[in-house]
Amino acid sequence: MLNRQIVLAAHPRGVPVPEDFRLVEGTVPEPGPGQMRVRNLYLSLEAAIRSWLDGTANYFEPIAIGGVIRGPSIARVESSRLPGFEPGDLVFGLQHWEDYSLCDADTVLLRKLIPDPKLPLSWYGGALGGSGHTAFVGLHRIGQIQAGDTVLVSAAAGATGSMACQIAKLHGCRVVGVVGNDEKSRLLQQLNVDAVVNYRQEDDLAAALARACPEGVNVYFDNVGGQLLDAALTAMAEGGRIVGCGMISDYNNSANPTPLYNLWQVIERQLTIKGFLLYSYLEDIPAASAQLEDWAREGRIQAIENITEGLPGAGAAYSNMMGGHTMGKNLVRVGEPDDT
Ligand SMILES: NC(=O)c1ccc[n+]([C@@H]2O[C@H](COP(=O)([O-])OP(=O)(O)OC[C@H]3O[C@@H](n4cnc5c(N)ncnc54)[C@H](OP(=O)(O)O)[C@@H]3O)[C@@H](O)[C@H]2O)c1
Repeated sequence: MLNRQIVLAAHPRGVPVPEDFRLVEGTVPEPGPGQMRVRNLYLSLEAAIRSWLDGTANYFEPIAIGGVIRGPSIARVESSRLPGFEPGDLVFGLQHWEDYSLCDADTVLLRKLIPDPKLPLSWYGGALGGSGHTAFVGLHRIGQIQAGDTVLVSAAAGATGSMACQIAKLHGCRVVGVVGNDEKSRLLQQLNVDAVVNYRQEDDLAAALARACPEGVNVYFDNVGGQLLDAALTAMAEGGRIVGCGMISDYNNSANPTPLYNLWQVIERQLTIKGFLLYSYLEDIPAASAQLEDWAREGRIQAIENITEGLPGAGAAYSNMMGGHTMGKNLVRVGEPDDT
């Protein structure tokens, strides 16, 4: 048996292209003491991976040329020398883009998954996994949302954004989404979002946000940073909260981040800006998971997904996602090792 792996072939320049990734074949790893071997089933494509491809360190080590791409997955335990995990268990954790990974007690985000068999397993990689958890923790713990708040969400048709919109609606908020094309606007209308701004069609973004949020924004769930954050600063209500979830608009060009001109509004409008990383709020995940699963069973949230079939397509799928061409959660169904 071989272990197919997707490695970094070149540091991307701007938006990653499929040629920045290469499929190689290695041997299937044997777990040592305290380790287990898992078979990856679904890879969860994450915007954060982009920053690891540039060769510079951030809150995780960069991935070297030839290194296997790191990313979270849903996996099944094949053989285990790690107490508490048995063959057949389903797990979520930060693994690699490959058929088989080794993990241990220090694997970031490692937890056993006990999915509801009535719900699709893939949902646990997005709406009921990291994307849903990030939206839930960001809105509640960081944004302190209250019924009646106006909540602005950027990258609103994406994995995290589509969940943030739905959770805020279920909480009784007025939700305004910002997206990059008309198909995404239509998706948000189906999700009952109250107003949508297509930022690519607006010459004056600040004016468009002010029109869509006439009483000001109480909570801005920011996935994008850059020009949208700068415009949103001018649309905030007095005492508003900005949830710093991500700054994807600069990830493809992190050496030249977009300047902000409206930071004075933080003082004038007495705003709070707080960033967060989900893995620092692991204690919130059980409650978030339980609530999200209940809503999914009741049909009150929709899991929007874009699933690529087969590990060899992972690089192209990632290129599409980071080019802004996708809606909902991007997953790769790994498939069998002989499907090349
Ligand atoms: N803090 C945390 O713990 C945490 C955890 C997970 C994710 N995040 C953050 O959440 C954000 C969304 O991540 P996701 O995984 O849910 O991705 P996603 O939203 O599913 O996909 C990316 C979307 O970002 C939008 N986008 C805006 N500006 C862009 C630009 N300049 N280039 C490319 N895309 C752009 C695109 O939608 P439009 O067409 O609408 O622009 C694109 O479809 C990211 O910033 C990510 O880092 C944070």
